Amino acid sequence: MRVRQNRSVALSSTTQAGYFDFLRFATVSADPARGQTMRDCAGWLAGKFQEMGMRAEIVPTAGAPVVLAFWRKGGSAKRRTVLIYGHYDVQPAEIGDGWTGDPFEPRLVDGMVVARGSTDNKGQIFAHMLGVAEKIKKGGPETDVIFVVEGEEEVGSDNLEGVLRSRREELACDVAVISDTNMAGPDKPTLTYGLRGIAALEVELTGPSHDLHSGVYGGAVVNPITVLTRLLAGLHDEKGRVTVPGFYKKVRKVAVWERKAAKALGVSDAEVRRQAGSPALAGEPGFSAIERIGMRPTAEINGITGGYQGPGPKTVLPSKASAKLTFRLVPHQNPKEIARLVEKDLKKRCPKTVKIKVTPQHGGFPYFCDPKKGFGPAASKALSRAWGGKRVDYLLEGGTIPIVSVIKKVLGVETLLVGLSLPDCRAHGPDETFPIEYLERGAKMNQALLREIAGK
Ligand code: BES
Ligand code: MN
Repeated sequence: MRVRQNRSVALSSTTQAGYFDFLRFATVSADPARGQTMRDCAGWLAGKFQEMGMRAEIVPTAGAPVVLAFWRKGGSAKRRTVLIYGHYDVQPAEIGDGWTGDPFEPRLVDGMVVARGSTDNKGQIFAHMLGVAEKIKKGGPETDVIFVVEGEEEVGSDNLEGVLRSRREELACDVAVISDTNMAGPDKPTLTYGLRGIAALEVELTGPSHDLHSGVYGGAVVNPITVLTRLLAGLHDEKGRVTVPGFYKKVRKVAVWERKAAKALGVSDAEVRRQAGSPALAGEPGFSAIERIGMRPTAEINGITGGYQGPGPKTVLPSKASAKLTFRLVPHQNPKEIARLVEKDLKKRCPKTVKIKVTPQHGGFPYFCDPKKGFGPAASKALSRAWGGKRVDYLLEGGTIPIVSVIKKVLGVETLLVGLSLPDCRAHGPDETFPIEYLERGAKMNQALLREIAGK
């Protein structure tokens, strides 16, 4: 699955330098100590947009600032406006997580740029900036362009909705474009036509009021870890279906063409198993791995804590046990409703021997947009053109980009998800990579897309 740098599209050294400067900002949104880094990166981005010839603005929020940039020609009322969204924040990365070098000192190895954020999302948004910059030099793209680049996507985009609402008129557009998803494989142009949503919550059980000697009390006092593991194991039946009552009630039926399109991706269960490095796969019966990921909702346990975690043994009967859960959702499930159903089910199944506290966390709606309607065909044409006329794949993505449904709600437009990442770019993992060639490729795709959207 290696993508090697194609010498004929080698980047200019200034382009690569700009990308590497972007990657050197350690913009970890989950880390509260990174406030200044976030502001520095936003300032750097605004400077880049200005260099490109765009009007740029840094909008402060209660969290990380949002960068807006505008290029308008105006004139004809028929002229279209495209909003391009991306995020400059990244997931945490520490060298001890398995990186082969400093995650914030980018390196070019065999045509692949290794750094946190190289693919998610700095490389992908930078490709769009390159595309627009080149067009502006030549008189401007065929559409007006707005960039919205935020710094809180990896922590749920809590402050962006307020910015979209307060700037609604300035941000009015015909369609949104996002490259923050995977392609079906190397050099397989892909239009993602749906994303899963998410409902996150934490559950905490308290048994005895303080930690106890497990010899002195064990057997008479209930252990909250035992109760928690029972509750969590009960979220699925033996077949792998989620047991929460009402969980599947609103799940959309997928169309026949969608299952065909999933098959046409050519991603076998064996390939998914290989990517995951897992001994064997399992999941809901009746669906392939790629269908389970894109078309079906899930319950995941992301973290579990309780009792003694230090070296050596300790005979403790702990007072507390807790877990972090997320549910990935598909149309037409509603994150708030699902969080309520899960809370109700956990409380109902929880015995009287412990106290239970359920705290809902962030949520995001699932997204679906028929690729045969609206600007879908324009996006397909542009993708195919950028990849030398190749057939386009249609993908339902398992991940979540919370702002996509908010864009629909607040600005009233659909989003074209034209990702440039590859399944083995290791987004969120150690040694995250991005093929350097895809910067240029992405810039060409951006230009083809704006032209198609303009109807030219
Ligand atoms: N780029 C991802 C979304 C994504 C994941 C697209 C996998 C394609 C494949 C995005 O940056 C992300 O990681 N989103 C979070 C959102 C969450 C924190 C609300 C996710 O999906 O976990
Ligand atoms: Mn991400």
